[in-house]
Amino acid sequence: MSGRIDVLVLDDEAAVASAAAGLFAELIRRKPNAVLGLATGSTPEPISAEMVHLYRDTGLSFAKARAFNLDEYLGLDGDHDQSYRFFMQKRLFDSIDIRAWNTFIFDGTALDPEQECRAYEAKIRAVGGVDLWLLGIGGNGHIAFNEPGSDPASRARVVTPDEETVKANSRHFADPSAVPTRAMTAGVGTILDARQIVLVATGAHKADAVAQALEGPRSSDCPASLLQEHPDCTFLLDSAAASQLC
Ligand code: PGA
Repeated sequence: MSGRIDVLVLDDEAAVASAAAGLFAELIRRKPNAVLGLATGSTPEPISAEMVHLYRDTGLSFAKARAFNLDEYLGLDGDHDQSYRFFMQKRLFDSIDIRAWNTFIFDGTALDPEQECRAYEAKIRAVGGVDLWLLGIGGNGHIAFNEPGSDPASRARVVTPDEETVKANSRHFADPSAVPTRAMTAGVGTILDARQIVLVATGAHKADAVAQALEGPRSSDCPASLLQEHPDCTFLLDSAAASQLC
């Protein structure tokens, strides 16, 4: 059972990106100082491109928006080309009018990472919570770096990504052995607190995880299935990612 999750199956990656960016545009037009929850990765990348297009060509302004990112590698400086801060600057923040001081990503070089995680939660609370959180999904059902076994009530914390995740992410690194083995991530509970959630998945390699999340039991074995309890969650899928759904 898919619980209360809305599912939209679209033609291709471009349609998924356009629909996801459209949800953010709609939110920002309604609430210019909205709190955006953003994500990195191959699936969110075209969504960032679409947001830049909306900024340049339709006048969508991020000037009052606040943005939180899901996760960051521990040990990578924001200038490192594989840090998620770097990804966000290059793919989105440097190309839109969002204010630097309104972008919140864990500092991968924080001296006290646990304190960095507590500060992240406190900042989210201070701005009144996240309005719309964008998520990808891992082949093992993870959301952010919440791997199978993550507590549904978990908050921001330091984690050790699964070997499968480290391997999947190594494709982006010139030296695959250089992928950090620890990270800071928003917790499942942090994500579930968002007023609205949109999960995007494209490609056949995500089909199993998507089917587990929507049609499997709500269980920490597939962290994305924990979204079934959220009152306003939508999955935007291309037909390949939806191919295992009944
Ligand atoms: P991907 O990552 O979009 O690069 O496949 C998704 C994820 O692991 O959350």
